[in-house]
Amino acid sequence: MCGIVGYVGSNEAADFLLEGLRRLEYRGYDSSGVVTAQDGTIDVKKTAGRVESLSQLLKTSPARGGVGIGHTRWATHGPATDENAHPHLGGDQIVALVHNGVIENYRGLKEKLLERGYEFCSDTDSEVVAHLLAYELRNLSDDVNESIDPYAPLIVAVQNMLTQLQGTYGLAMVFRDWPEVIVTARLGSPLVLGVGDGENFIASDGSPLAGRTEKIVYLADHEIAIVTADTIRVIHRDQGDVRHDIKVLDIEAADIDLGRFDHYMLKEIFEQPETVRNALRGRLDRDEATAVFGGLNLSAQQLQSVQRFVLTACGTSWHSALVGEYMIENLARIPVEVEYASELRYRNPPLSTGTLLFALTQSGETIDTLAALREMKRKGHPTMSICNVVGSTIAREADGGIYLHAGPEIGVASTKAFTAQCVVMSLLALYFGRLHHLSYEAGLHIIDDLEKLPEQVETALATHDRVRQIAEKYADRNNFLYLGRQYNFPAALEGALKLKEISYVHAEGYPAAEMKHGPIALVDEQTPSVFIVPQSAVYDKVLANLEEIKARGGPVIAVVDDEDSRVTEVADDVIVVPAVSDFLQPIVASVPLQMLAYHIALIRGCDVDKPRNLAKSVTVE
Ligand code: AGP
Repeated sequence: MCGIVGYVGSNEAADFLLEGLRRLEYRGYDSSGVVTAQDGTIDVKKTAGRVESLSQLLKTSPARGGVGIGHTRWATHGPATDENAHPHLGGDQIVALVHNGVIENYRGLKEKLLERGYEFCSDTDSEVVAHLLAYELRNLSDDVNESIDPYAPLIVAVQNMLTQLQGTYGLAMVFRDWPEVIVTARLGSPLVLGVGDGENFIASDGSPLAGRTEKIVYLADHEIAIVTADTIRVIHRDQGDVRHDIKVLDIEAADIDLGRFDHYMLKEIFEQPETVRNALRGRLDRDEATAVFGGLNLSAQQLQSVQRFVLTACGTSWHSALVGEYMIENLARIPVEVEYASELRYRNPPLSTGTLLFALTQSGETIDTLAALREMKRKGHPTMSICNVVGSTIAREADGGIYLHAGPEIGVASTKAFTAQCVVMSLLALYFGRLHHLSYEAGLHIIDDLEKLPEQVETALATHDRVRQIAEKYADRNNFLYLGRQYNFPAALEGALKLKEISYVHAEGYPAAEMKHGPIALVDEQTPSVFIVPQSAVYDKVLANLEEIKARGGPVIAVVDDEDSRVTEVADDVIVVPAVSDFLQPIVASVPLQMLAYHIALIRGCDVDKPRNLAKSVTVE
């Protein structure tokens, strides 16, 4: 959601800014802009629409200078217009800034600034911050000593401004009278710095830095960075200078190349054999018939005494948590509760000691998941993250965690992160199972199953042509049902979500047997039902549900693992995936469902990688 980039160095800032904004497009946005500082002026270029429109604007009217910041805006306060696009100017154009996040008290601040004579051009909360910063710069107390520290006025003005803000922010600011510097600040909205040679970079996440530098600094909440071409200084909003660690960026330029694919979503779907392998790599211990994790950071005694799991997440990550619930309860026999993070953060559930919280999140920045994690931490429960983005806020704030190692997921619709999360869930089930009742032999069976999984996912990908044909047949339909039971119920939910988010087609996921308690009323010749019905203990039951749909004239698309099964006789269209143990079925079955959503969206002319209204990491409540 919203993206920030910044550049300080001897090259034209706009070159990096444009490229960086393109790499941040996946986060979701509806307008974009840049500002550069040079020769006593700050020059803003911004426009509603895609970064491509900004690029055209910059061709006719270039933004010159070696210092600049850029932004992609996802509208919160006011529609996607040129005026509401960032950057916003403050005061007499003495400052310009870009902002991610939401300033909750902006109305009160705006009223005061209006009384002081400031004029506003936009509806945004961010312009309020720009004017407030200009006001603080103009009204510094006399004891701010520029001769000792040339940036003292900026620092004090920024600190004074920040202390008045309520809400969340990732801010990057440039100053007319200090054209060699960018100041950034963060609270609740991620910012990273890229350390170059005679140049430095700023970004909302590591992707714009790939290929530019391998050195990254993660800013923490309440930190302010003063960045010039040769220096990075980090200070705490209230406590003065702090040491900053330089880490290694884990993204390579090739990771964000489309390669032979037309869309990131398809590329990421096809990466799954590898990402499943990566999620397993080094985590299977045949000697002990268990899983191993490097980052749980809990003592053997703490691990042994876990009596209950709470899994919290949003969206697709919530679906993988549901898969995890089935896995952990069945294999480890430990009770699991799955909570929407947005609900958990405001609920006050009675949780006994021995409760371990896992926050599942691809991005590691989802604000609801972060808030739920903080709430649980505050109540003294150990917290773990299952996260893809290294160094993300949730990964850093959790007591311990497990990385997915799926590589950057750029398509807004999560695919490879989902299957990697399910794999990690299965590893946790194995691990905690082996701490309790699961036998050595049963542990080894699970390891055997997991070792075969990357190849089975590869085989599931071979359904691509068949799935494309099915997509062509049903792409004009406006309602779909997705049905599955037990492990495949979350897979049904996830299949429906994929279709909804990228093709804008209404789709509902249900446990197959629930269908007759209401959704069956939706069934008609125009409403396809997608059944996930591999061989399992409930096969006959699901088959009965399928027959009920057929009896009412509803077309059925079935994902099966046996070509000659009874389902194939009844269903209109069949997709055959490899047979795997029941706990791995949602992983294998999800692959064709991802492709089905992809092809239906494509046929309907939708922007698969940047679906309307959606953002990759949802950093507002
Ligand atoms: C997935 O396709 C969605 N874009 C969305 O539901 C996403 O899973 C959700 O916003 C949670 O994101 P996270 O995993 O980064 O926390």
